Amino acid sequence: MDFSKAVSKGQLHEQLHQWYKELGPIYKVNVVNRNMVVVTDPTSIESVIRRAMESGGRPPLVELVEVFNKEHHLPPSIATHNYEAWKRYRPLTNLLLQPQHIHPLIPRISLVAKEWTQKLKEMATVQPDHSYVLPQLRSCLNLFTLEAIVAVIQGKRLGLTTPGTHVSQEILDFTSNVENVVRFTSASMSTFPLFKYFKTPLYKQFEKVCLSAFEYCKKIRNQHSLQEIQDGTVHLADVYTALGVKNGLSEAELLSVDLGITFAAMDTTSAAITIALYELALSPSLQEELYQEICSVMAIDSSSWTELPSIDNFQLKKMHLLKNFVKDVMRKSPAIPLNSRVLFEDVEIQGYHIPKNTDIMLFNYGVNRDEKYFENPLQINPKRFDVEDNKMNEYTMLPFGLGERACPGKRIAMAEIHLLVAHVVYQFRLQTRAKDYELAGPGLVSPLISKENQIHFVTRR
Ligand code: HEM
Repeated sequence: MDFSKAVSKGQLHEQLHQWYKELGPIYKVNVVNRNMVVVTDPTSIESVIRRAMESGGRPPLVELVEVFNKEHHLPPSIATHNYEAWKRYRPLTNLLLQPQHIHPLIPRISLVAKEWTQKLKEMATVQPDHSYVLPQLRSCLNLFTLEAIVAVIQGKRLGLTTPGTHVSQEILDFTSNVENVVRFTSASMSTFPLFKYFKTPLYKQFEKVCLSAFEYCKKIRNQHSLQEIQDGTVHLADVYTALGVKNGLSEAELLSVDLGITFAAMDTTSAAITIALYELALSPSLQEELYQEICSVMAIDSSSWTELPSIDNFQLKKMHLLKNFVKDVMRKSPAIPLNSRVLFEDVEIQGYHIPKNTDIMLFNYGVNRDEKYFENPLQINPKRFDVEDNKMNEYTMLPFGLGERACPGKRIAMAEIHLLVAHVVYQFRLQTRAKDYELAGPGLVSPLISKENQIHFVTRR
């Protein structure tokens, strides 16, 4: 299987992992039209990130997006490779990392997560054993992640997780369009960019899904009839828009920030939650431990049934097992299995000369599954983080990237994953016939779920 085939089959991470085992910690891959090397050991990853911090770095050029933006007279996207444009956006997205903005929003996310566990029964097919199955698990989770991100960013409720409310075809189309944007973007990076010269079928599909998703995003932003959340907490969009206006960003650039955040937030988080739920289904004993922790922190008598109230930041902080479980899931199966950088200067890594403008892939998936860095790497073991281990550091695990381009949505994403898992574990026992799962992409990876290995949600009540 070559690089392009691996991308189209959604198995790029597997192919790179194979090469990692055969070729060692640093190797070059041939991709049409690009210079690309893959680095896989934490020391080399650290060198690249540090060099990017010192003398500048950017993500690889995504020509499909550039061509599309140019043709439609749109400003660059928030994850643009254009350093000058990115510097105008980043102070705004950096606000999403500030605890004082995120912590008060935890109960808001918790409420949406709790609603989703109730809505699950409406979305599911009921099995003969009375368990619930969500045939389109990831798409159902997209309803949660979209509702949550709009609630925390715009302070509005779309009603996607509200029990008894119909989810319109328009919304379902939007979520699948966003999924396809990611798919087409990653596919475009392993093929010759013919779309620069004429409208290829890939370009046409990308254009269609993007335009349609943009329209819907604009609608959410401008729809004044949507229910506004009035819990006394400030909405994040109000905070960063004020900063953007102060810094002289145009209305088109502010819209690009809103679109970029919604796009970057939704499917990434759903993919990560899908993996976490699958790992839970594989481990009934861990579910019970988590259930006991939730009851203990929330002061609930686990022998009698009580509604789980909204979880706040202080309570979430005390759920150590939950947090370490999610951390270990993101280690074993990062939804984004590789990061990338293009450096502005030549760099020497482990005796190899890497010229500037080379796409450098930082292959965290390989490190995360390497016994050199993690004992029993394929086993989920939240307790591995309880002991001091000097082999583990921030360069051995980078599910959200690192450095100045690191994911600004990290806190929000983690809160969403923790809270959804907490509410699901409190409400259900998860079961599956599968013994393990296989991850597949393209771009984002999540478990391949067939009819035979679905997750069954069994109510605890
Ligand atoms: C589990 C969910 C998520 C994962 C695994 C994830 C992962 C990542 C990664 C790996 C990067 C590239 C980092 C780098 O190159 O160093 C990134 C960038 C980004 N993410 Fe996330 N992300 C997630 C959720 C979110 C959420 C919820 C938001 C918004 C609220 C968000 C917004 C962004 C943005 C705007 C960028 C581009 C940053 C820049 O170039 O300045 N992400 N994310």
